[in-house]
Amino acid sequence: MSGPNSSYDPVQVTPLGEEEVFAMRDAALAAIAAASDLDELKRVRSEHAGDRSPLALANREIGALPPAARKETGARVGQARGAVNQALAVRQAELEAEAEERMLVDETVDVTLPWDRTPRGARHPITTMSERIADIFVAMGWEVAEGPLVEAEWLNFDALNLGPDHPARTMQDTFWTEPAENHVVLRTHTSPVQARTMLTREPPIYVVCPGRVFRTDEYDATHSPMFHQVEGLVVDEGITMAHLKGSLDHFAQAIFGEGITTRFRPSYFPFTEPSAEVDLVCFVCRGSGLVDEATCRTCRGEGWIEWGGCGVVNPRVLVACGVDAERYTGFAFGMGIDRTLMFRHGVEDLRSFFEGDVRFSRAFGTEI
Ligand code: PHE
Repeated sequence: MSGPNSSYDPVQVTPLGEEEVFAMRDAALAAIAAASDLDELKRVRSEHAGDRSPLALANREIGALPPAARKETGARVGQARGAVNQALAVRQAELEAEAEERMLVDETVDVTLPWDRTPRGARHPITTMSERIADIFVAMGWEVAEGPLVEAEWLNFDALNLGPDHPARTMQDTFWTEPAENHVVLRTHTSPVQARTMLTREPPIYVVCPGRVFRTDEYDATHSPMFHQVEGLVVDEGITMAHLKGSLDHFAQAIFGEGITTRFRPSYFPFTEPSAEVDLVCFVCRGSGLVDEATCRTCRGEGWIEWGGCGVVNPRVLVACGVDAERYTGFAFGMGIDRTLMFRHGVEDLRSFFEGDVRFSRAFGTEI
C-alpha cells in the first residue's frame, strides 16, 4: 500500500461533511456546557476531545480524502476541535473556580460558635464506685464474682443458714416473684454470690461481688427498694477474724484515706459466726464527733459511721455449699455502695443517685 488514496473509502468520508462536523462540534459544546462538575467535565473531555472522540476520528480520516477535499475538510475539523478545546478550557476554569468557592464556604469555621454544646456524658457515680472497690480487691489478687439479680430462694436464704422458719428472714423484706411455688426472689443481698461461688469453685476463694439488691423498703432519703451492695468472701486454710479486720481496714483506707480504721461491734447474721457490724472512724472529725466545736454533720457527733456487716463464715454455710469445713475457714462482709458514696461525698438524699438528674451525676463524671 503506498499513497493515502489507495485506502480511499467513500463510506468513511461520509461523516466529514459540513453538517456532520458541525453536529459533532455542537454535541461536544452542549455536553461541555451541561457538565456540572469537574468529574463530569473530565468524562465529557474524553468522550468529545479524546483519542476515540468523533472529531479525533474524523481528523484521522482527513488524510484519506482526495487532495482537493483535504484542505477544506481539514480546516473545518480543525476549527471544530479548536472550538471544543477552547470551550473545555473555559468550562474547566469556571468549574474550578466554583469548586474552590464552595470549598471556602464549606470549610468556613466560625470561631465564635460555642464548641461544647453537647455535654460530655458522665459515668454514674455508683458504677465508678463499684469499679473503684473492685479494683482495690483485684489489686490484692482477689477476683470479681457476679450473680443474677433474680435468684433462687434457696441460694438467697437457705444455703446461707436462713431456713424457711428462721426468724432472721424477716430482717430482709423480700420481693417474691410469681408463681410463689417457684421459690424465686429478687436477691435481698449479694450474699447468694457467696453460695454460688462456693458451689462452683474449690478453695482458695478470694472474691468480691458488687451488685444490685432489692428489698421492699420505702423510697425515702435513706432507703430505696433497689440499692447496691458489695460482698466479699474468702475461703482458705487458716483464715481468721484477723484477716477480715486487716482486709476491711485496707478497704476503708483505700476509699476514705489514710488513718481511717474500722471497729467491729458484735452482731448477728445467720451466715457468719461470729458476726460483727463494721464502723468506720468518721473521716471528717476523725472520731471526735466535733468539727470546729460543733457537732460533726457527717457522723452526727458519733465519731463513727456504720458501714456494713461481716463475720467468719458459719460452718453450716460451708457445708451447705460443699466446702470441707474441717479443713477450711472463711470470712465474708457486705457493705452498701450507695451508703459508702453518700458519706464519702456528703450526699444527703439517697434518691439523688436514682433520679437521673445529670446536674448531680456530672459532678462525678471526671472521676477515674
Ligand atoms: N448480707 C448481709 C446484709 O445484707 C451483709 C453481710 C454480708 C453480713 C456478709 C455478713 C457477711 O445485711
